[in-house]
Amino acid sequence: MSTEDKANEVSAGDRDRHSATPPTDPGTQDPASGAGGTITLFFIIGLVASLVLGWVIFPQLLYSKKEQPVDFNHALHNELVEDSCESCHFFREDGTFSGVPKLAQCIDCHEEVNGEDPEEEKFVTQYVAKGREVPWLVYARQPDCVFFSHIAHVKMGEMDCVTCHGHIGESESLKVYEENRITGYSRDIWGKNIAGIKWNSWDRMKMDDCADCHKKNNVNLNSVQTHRGGCFVCHH
Ligand code: HEC
Ligand code: HEC
Ligand code: HEC
Ligand code: HEC
Ligand code: HEC
Repeated sequence: MSTEDKANEVSAGDRDRHSATPPTDPGTQDPASGAGGTITLFFIIGLVASLVLGWVIFPQLLYSKKEQPVDFNHALHNELVEDSCESCHFFREDGTFSGVPKLAQCIDCHEEVNGEDPEEEKFVTQYVAKGREVPWLVYARQPDCVFFSHIAHVKMGEMDCVTCHGHIGESESLKVYEENRITGYSRDIWGKNIAGIKWNSWDRMKMDDCADCHKKNNVNLNSVQTHRGGCFVCHH
């Protein structure tokens, strides 16, 4: 018996069951819910459909999800290293920030596979053994035209990493990276909340978010000891 026959049989069974209820006559509907009710109904359906499209489907289409090449457990490593975050994210002597760690910072402990974790095995066989840097996806990465300095914020401004990055540094697993298909930026720049509500200081990092915090802290970028001014304080 083909699947089509089976389907016919099922729908025949359905028909039998439904024939027990009397057929509904559209004419016998409650007069109170006439044309007005139908219009309201269509209005609500249309509204719900556009809300779903704008709030659920569009953001899903706009962002493509990418897994990190290797998962990384911050909580585990923070216990193993000596200088906490600075073991991997530090300032060089010239004041520049090291950013995402290089393979050289991992090799002392990962020349060989230490344990059973499949992520460690992947890291050692695919990257350490081949001398290949891990192409980490940077959640906070700004467009190339933006100039940002960690030392100004972390040392001079005495700000905590959490203020701008949230709790990535204490996490057990790296979250999925979401890339905006139009701009190519990380979703962390525009944020998750499309209504624009910001619950935490790290929810979003658009131009206005930089500027809002500067205003709150009375940072006068024009008085900053640089030869750049106005827009060029933050733009190359
Ligand atoms: C053993 C090394 C190591 C230590 C120690 C470490 N990190 Fe990391 N961290 C990494 C690696 C590897 C990544 C790369 C993942 C990525 O691209 O986000 C990363 C990424 C990050 C990021 C995300 C950057 C971005 O936007 O993608 C933040 C924020 C961060 N670390 C903060 C911290 C803080 C805070 C601490 C201390 C509490 C810390 N890290 C300790 C290795 C380390
Ligand atoms: C101080 C030593 C030390 C350093 C430095 C270190 N690791 Fe580890 N790492 C370990 C140990 C120990 C484990 C646990 C292995 C096990 O028992 O599964 C581990 C586990 C891992 C794992 C598997 C668990 C997880 O995090 O998902 C990955 C991947 C990893 N390390 C990557 C890195 C990378 C990348 C760096 C450099 C940025 C690094 N490690 C630096 C000691 C270290
Ligand atoms: C005032 C906000 C702010 C603070 C505070 C801050 N960061 Fe960042 N961080 C950023 C921004 C913005 C970027 C993206 C810079 C870019 O793309 O040019 C970034 C990028 C990074 C990166 C990725 C760098 C790369 O290689 O591209 C790491 C890792 C990182 N931050 C870790 C930290 C750690 C660790 C701390 C605390 C010691 C910290 N940040 C404090 C805003 C901040
Ligand atoms: C949570 C608050 C906060 C956020 C968010 C923030 N900043 Fe700042 N920024 C500061 C403070 C405070 C200073 C002044 C630090 C000092 O010199 O004491 C500063 C200083 C600066 C300076 C001057 C650095 C110099 O040359 O001395 C630049 C440039 C700058 N910020 C760019 C940015 C950009 C770009 C962003 C967004 C990607 C940003 N900031 C986000 C608080 C913030
Ligand atoms: C406090 C730092 C800061 C200052 C000052 C600033 N910008 Fe920006 N600007 C940013 C950041 C961060 C972004 C990227 C995030 C975004 O698109 O909001 C950006 C993005 C832009 C973009 C979009 C570029 C792109 O690739 O999407 C334009 C255009 C721009 N800025 C123009 C200006 C002009 C013009 C001024 C001066 C009136 C200015 N900015 C001053 C931080 C700043």
